[in-house]
Order: sequence, then structure tokens, then C-alpha cells
Amino acid sequence: MATMPKLDLLDRCAPDEGTSAFCEDVLSGLSQRQKAIPARWFYDLVGSELFEDITRLPEYYPTRTEVGLLKTHCGDVAGLIGEGRVVVEFGSGSSLKTPHLLRQVIPSAYVPIDISGEFLLQSNADLAQLLPDLPIYPVEADFTKAVALPSALRGSAMLGFFPGSTIGNLAPFAATDLLRSMRDTLGHGSWLLIGIDRVKPIDRLIAAYDDAQGVTAQFNLNLLHRINRELGADIPVDDFHHVARWNPSASRIEMHLEAQRDVAFQVEDRLFFMRDGETIHTENSHKYTEQSARALLSAGGWTPRQVWTDAREDFLLILAEAETIPLAP
Ligand code: AVI
Repeated sequence: MATMPKLDLLDRCAPDEGTSAFCEDVLSGLSQRQKAIPARWFYDLVGSELFEDITRLPEYYPTRTEVGLLKTHCGDVAGLIGEGRVVVEFGSGSSLKTPHLLRQVIPSAYVPIDISGEFLLQSNADLAQLLPDLPIYPVEADFTKAVALPSALRGSAMLGFFPGSTIGNLAPFAATDLLRSMRDTLGHGSWLLIGIDRVKPIDRLIAAYDDAQGVTAQFNLNLLHRINRELGADIPVDDFHHVARWNPSASRIEMHLEAQRDVAFQVEDRLFFMRDGETIHTENSHKYTEQSARALLSAGGWTPRQVWTDAREDFLLILAEAETIPLAP
């Protein structure tokens, strides 16, 4: 039987670089047996605003718990690593947590790295008002690969900052790669301050990802609206339902969009069918114990030196050091 020529997805997708990457991920993700779209596509303008709303929900404990930890322990961080480091924030976004760190560790400079230039501009303007004497070197880049830092900072002692348990949105193998890239970006003698969400009773986890007001549902469903808006698709969004479920063997909350009846829709020139109850997997949020978080950091080339947690033991703030890898055991 003659095989169909495999059409390069790029041929179908728009010429603009960002849109075409989105289009490629959507087309290939919807073609898999378990349909899946990478969570990074949640964050258009509407999605980013909905995420900010999520961080203020009563059920979503991570943000306020981490801010509490930063307020309480950044003085200890300064005591352990000394003043005058360059603080490099990975995926700075709106940088709301950063002032708590910067005020206490007294850095020599601040380098926010984000893939979105727009976000960088806005958050830098806000930060420059709060800390007018701090030199800021914004870098627009994809921090999942090693990033070249501004040459003026070469040789400076660095402190990486990766809050929000964003590491949890990656599968452990990808999380390990990311930690290694961060180590490459920051260099020997650097430190990393990272926030990681802990395993806890399932009902609390589910509530955090399926809140009573339905904000997380809107955040998840916005992905389908975005596909319709940006790729001219005709997905019947009202026929989908937000689902948050705990996957015990992978220790993660999964978000899915579940079809409520058999549906058919078109994206670009491709037709897709989904059965009643079939899902599109949209996000993983891995949860760690202190032990598994330590193991993850070590696998990524970082040695945990200090671990802080809150009174409810909901969240971990870990200070880790980039160690020289010994050549022999
Ligand atoms: C960005 N990230 C750490 C959030 C999380 O908790 O995994 C994204 C999120 N998804 C739903 N609610 C929040």
C-alpha cells in the first residue's frame, strides 16, 4: 500500500514564528492518541491575567505561602550567601515576589529572564520605581536552554531565583535538564533559590486546581478559545469541561479538557474528532516530598544547603549550591 507523504506541520502553519510554533504544537498535540497541548500556551494576555486571579484564590495556597516564606527567610539567605550577588530570575513574569528577595539579599544587579519582552518591560518599570538604585539587565530569552548573560556581569557571583513551583510543571526528566541549564547559565560558585510545592492531601490539591469560583476552569478553557482566536479554529468550547485529577504514580495534578459529547472541529485544514469523555491533557503540576525535591535538585547538579517550609508544611523554599562535580566517587 502506498504510504501518504508526511506533510510537514510547518507547511500548514502561519509564517509568523510565534503563531507557527503554537500551531505546530496544537496540530501535533491533537494528533496523538492521548491528546495533549503544552501548558506554556496558557499564557496569552487573557491567560496571564487569569493566572494572576488564580494566585489570589482562597484554595490556591502556593503563592501566598511562598511569599510568606520569602518574607521570613530571605534574610537568612543573605546571611548564608553574602550580599552583592547578581540575582538572575528565570521566567520573571510579573516579578511580584522578587522585591521580597531583592530588599533582603542586597544584590549588585538584577537580571530578569523571560520569553515575553512585554512582561519584561512592564515588570522592570514597576521594579525600577521600587528599587531605583538597582541596576537591571533584562534578557528576553527561552531559559530552558543555557542563556548568555550580559557581558558586563561576566565573572560576578550569581544567585538564581526560580519561585512559584514552576519546576513542577515539567516532567522530572525535563526538570532535571532545566536545572542543569540553569547551572550552565549561572556558572560555578552560584546558588539557586527555588520554590517547590509539596505533596499533600488530595482534596486540598484538587480544590487548588478546581476552585469553587471556576477561575481555573476558565484558565484551562481559555486555551481552546485561544486556538479558535489565533488559529481560526471552530472548537465548540461550551462542549468541554475542565477536569483536575491526581495521578498518584506520577505524583502530580493533571489538568484536562474533557469533551462532554462526541465533537468534531477543524484547526487550520485538519479535521479532529473526539469521543464523549475523551480529554485533551493540558498541564502537569508535580508535587514533591522534601526527599524527592532534594533528589531532583541533586540530579540537576545542585546541592541543597538549606530547606525552609511553612507551619502547614505546604511548600518548600530551598537554597542550593552549584557544586563542582567530583570526577570520582
Ligand atoms: C505556574 N504553575 C506553577 C501553576 C501550577 O500550580 O502548576 C499553574 C497553574 N495551573 C493551574 N493553576 C495554577
